[in-house]
Amino acid sequence: MNKTVVETLPEGGRPAYFCPAIHPTPMKFFIDTANLDQIREAAALGVLDGVTTNPSLMAKEGISGEAAVRQHYVDICNIVDGDVSAEVIGTDFETMVREGEALAALHDNIVVKVPMIEDGVKALRYFSDKGIRTNCTLVFSAGQALLAAKAGADYVSPFIGRLDDISSDGLQLIEQIRGIYDNYMFKTEILAASVRHTMHIIDCAQIGADVMTGPLSAIKGLLKHPLTDSGLEKFLADHAKAAASVSA
Ligand code: G3P
Repeated sequence: MNKTVVETLPEGGRPAYFCPAIHPTPMKFFIDTANLDQIREAAALGVLDGVTTNPSLMAKEGISGEAAVRQHYVDICNIVDGDVSAEVIGTDFETMVREGEALAALHDNIVVKVPMIEDGVKALRYFSDKGIRTNCTLVFSAGQALLAAKAGADYVSPFIGRLDDISSDGLQLIEQIRGIYDNYMFKTEILAASVRHTMHIIDCAQIGADVMTGPLSAIKGLLKHPLTDSGLEKFLADHAKAAASVSA
């Protein structure tokens, strides 16, 4: 860690684990859905950097069967010019490797999503050595995140909403992982997952998560402020009044 940066932080400045030298790129926004309309809407905003899916989200869209699932991933890749996480279903090393290689071959933007289990860690190492990009999912502790980084994962997905659901602190986990990764300059990107609302996004940005993935509603929530709405209403009313007085 760059100690100079840490020691010269002003009172009330960024937390000590934040080191701009290690975070040269802006936070990435991923949408967490397999719904093509929502992906299109988020992409049209011009702020979308990628998509995450999982078997539950695919099932929610009624996508089933190997061919349909693979076609759906290709459809998503054709909408978004960014990373698209596609999850393996197998839970043993051989099946994960076979599925992951097939998924990665679908499109350059595919990132193979691998669960944080023992064979998953082996698969992360295998994919990393082969140059296949990965996202380690179902991460709920700093130890799991450390292991994923050691195994060469490109992304690690701590599920902050699901921790909050059981009275644990999801954001505290993001802080812990940020600190650990910065200590050793791990290249693994922290992908804050299971984001449920807009404040999760803002908190993750303050902590320095590399990526957040959440629903469209959470992303669109960022643009809302009542003073923006009332201010715009007043601007337009004043403009109309002035225009009417000129034409009168
Ligand atoms: O895609 C993984 C994660 O984001 C799931 O979120 O809302 O089902 O806990 P959620």
